Amino acid sequence: MLQQARTFITDMYNELNFSEEACTERLANIEREIAETGTYRHTTEELTYGARVAWRQSNRCIGRLFWEKLTVMDARDIQDEADFIDAIHNHIEYATNGGRIKPTITIFAQSDIPGPKIFNNQLIRYAGYADKGDPAEREVTQLAEYLGWCGKGTDFDILPLIYQLPNQPVKYHTYPESLIMEVPIQHKNYPKVATLGLKWYAVPIISSMDLKIGGITYPTVPFNGWYMVNEIAVRNFTDSYRYNLLETFAEAMGFDNLRNTSFNKDRVMVEINDAVYQSFRQAGVSMVDHLTASKQFEQFEHNETQQGRAVTGKWSWLAPPLSPTLTSNYHHGYRNEVREPNFFYKEKTTSGCPFH
Ligand code: ARG
Repeated sequence: MLQQARTFITDMYNELNFSEEACTERLANIEREIAETGTYRHTTEELTYGARVAWRQSNRCIGRLFWEKLTVMDARDIQDEADFIDAIHNHIEYATNGGRIKPTITIFAQSDIPGPKIFNNQLIRYAGYADKGDPAEREVTQLAEYLGWCGKGTDFDILPLIYQLPNQPVKYHTYPESLIMEVPIQHKNYPKVATLGLKWYAVPIISSMDLKIGGITYPTVPFNGWYMVNEIAVRNFTDSYRYNLLETFAEAMGFDNLRNTSFNKDRVMVEINDAVYQSFRQAGVSMVDHLTASKQFEQFEHNETQQGRAVTGKWSWLAPPLSPTLTSNYHHGYRNEVREPNFFYKEKTTSGCPFH
């Protein structure tokens, strides 16, 4: 831990042009704290900087240009259930910001101190049933049902928050409806699309990853940016193992020949992206298209190079799933080295269920 703390603090003080004396002094304090207590506590400044750098070093993320704009909510001292729910509501409301989405992270207790746990993949997500809803959320849905939650059984039931406080049972909490912003999907050239009754939520808030900074692990750190259109249009709506809606959209758009060589599958795919983007725009909800996102990523690479830092990345994630060759990042490789601070997937227990 001391060694990782040293690396983190030294890097931070260098990047921020803090004096060498200040660095030496902080390191001496950390060393003493670890010797006495077995761990140490970040200052709010270290926490904020660490979370932002974790974003900057997230190899799968194409949206990293904005890493310095991350709002960091320090919720490390929250132990009380009502305060916890408040902090979650506050995150959703602040990040949603009436549609002008603000990248935000709320950081709860570090792992060596008992604190709240979240069992959802994202704070806002649709339930998945045997043949309704989002198949990617079937496990979490079963957990919610086991706890006594009962959804309406539609394709778009907002899952409750599933959480646990120290020395308490796992519980669920249903959000007030007014807290959750959703966007109905329509397409100006294909009026039938609106009649499908499709929608998606405005803000993707990942809640299943650990944040590691300077040898300290933060296990409960919901964080969000805004959506890139393909995430919803190409993947969530169209993957055969998700909502599987290609044929549904095709029919609503009047494409009856879906044979490979008609290229209509591809045409429909483009129009689904157009529909999702237009709909978010019209609803006043932030969203980026893939071509703009990859331009922004190029700018990020440029900025990093100017700062004398090497950009790492995971090519298979940075290449967008629609027209990838139209973006520059398709055409060169990235080093997928994982540096800390960073976000990490939690190790999955075999069932994913906290009871088994
Ligand atoms: N791909 C995930 C989803 O469709 C969200 C991942 C985070 N995305 C983001 N734009 N920050 O829900």
